[in-house]
Amino acid sequence: MPGWPPTISSGAVGQNGSGSINNILSVAKFGVIISNVKMGIDNRGGGNPGVIKKAQTTQLRVGMFVHDFNCGWLENPFFAKQLLLKSEKEIEKIISVGIHELYIDTSKGLDIANAPTEAEVKKEIRTEMAKIDDHKAEVITVPMKEELKEAQKCKTEAKKLITNIMQDVRMGKQVELESVDNAVENMMDSIFRNQGALTSLSRLKSKDEYTFMHSVNVCVLMISFCKSSDVDKATIRKIGSGALLHDIGKMQVPQEVLNKPAKLTDEEFEQMRSHVVQSKLILSKTDGISQEAIEVAGQHHERYDGSGYPDKLKGAEISHFGQMASIVDVYDAITSDRVYHKGLDSTDALKKIFEWSKFHFDPVLVQLFIKTVGIYPVGTLVRLESGLLGVVCEPGKESMLKPVVRAIYDSKRERFLSAPKDLDLAASGNADRILGSESPSKWNIKPFDFIEIL
Ligand SMILES: [Fe+2]
Repeated sequence: MPGWPPTISSGAVGQNGSGSINNILSVAKFGVIISNVKMGIDNRGGGNPGVIKKAQTTQLRVGMFVHDFNCGWLENPFFAKQLLLKSEKEIEKIISVGIHELYIDTSKGLDIANAPTEAEVKKEIRTEMAKIDDHKAEVITVPMKEELKEAQKCKTEAKKLITNIMQDVRMGKQVELESVDNAVENMMDSIFRNQGALTSLSRLKSKDEYTFMHSVNVCVLMISFCKSSDVDKATIRKIGSGALLHDIGKMQVPQEVLNKPAKLTDEEFEQMRSHVVQSKLILSKTDGISQEAIEVAGQHHERYDGSGYPDKLKGAEISHFGQMASIVDVYDAITSDRVYHKGLDSTDALKKIFEWSKFHFDPVLVQLFIKTVGIYPVGTLVRLESGLLGVVCEPGKESMLKPVVRAIYDSKRERFLSAPKDLDLAASGNADRILGSESPSKWNIKPFDFIEIL
């Protein structure tokens, strides 16, 4: 088995954006072999950013080509990902589901002269997000490496538990809160010892068993979000239970609709949406459940501008924890791989949520959430000013923009480093800095294979 550096089995490694090179690499590190690693351009998002423009939905006209509905596709599964607008009815439908802004491709349809390009929008979001950095140092009582073992145990147990509970509910059984409370308590303990451990693990997910893993991930992220917001532990316990059970109503949705890998019909879409009311109903009948937990489950699809469901609540009509749950729910959904789409990496997902906070979320809460997750959380592939590519392996102690990065590849010399190098970007002698995140799929790199996460 080859060691470090990874062996290049044919040709030279493609530089970012060169666009034509697809090289096969064989990489081995930390006992993990990545075979047939292909490097080349990233077609995610597609198109030339110069011709992709952001449009208000009120500006839409028949003949425009929708490049990206910009809405968290899971919210509107009856849409194709892209669409040439052929009727006013289609435009009305887009507006009716609460989409205010989307992206059009002006090379495939009508243009809007003064609309900003996607590149301009991205630049503005990057600038605005960089202003959020006022990181509060986290109290860590157990080192990351040590806590990861316990965190993995918590995650496995919670997933097993929610799988069993959901199957029981499908058979008409009641939820027994005691086991849920115990699982939440264990997750809280881990997060209070070292927040990064369990939250990093929550980003390691497969597309199998999405419903169960999503429940656990939303729970982990809600506990972390509450902790960062200085919510007291007694309340976090209640919120954690609501978060773990927030989608329990999905067990009342026919399995073929729940797992349908294609566009839903209007009727199926309504069945899917009904899971929120069902969650509320099931939890209302659960002995010992708190009002806060019911609110988390019952409001996680409400949106700040009133475009959510089931009650179209607006602004402060949505409880504080309901608003937090809506952000967390979308974040986990859009970072997850599904049969019909590839999940976004964390940094891109946070940018999207930041963009959507104009309408769908409370912007102040979104900023708090970004601080909770960190702009470059553990496992993010980043490009440094020096040209090195690396994987974030520890959160920054003082600033979320200055984490510890494990450098693995030199993009200027187009080769892997002779050995991985850990760079603490907050260290006094360090002159390097992060320019931005890189898409792991662009480099066909699995970032978690390069850090000793497990
Ligand atoms: Fe949901």
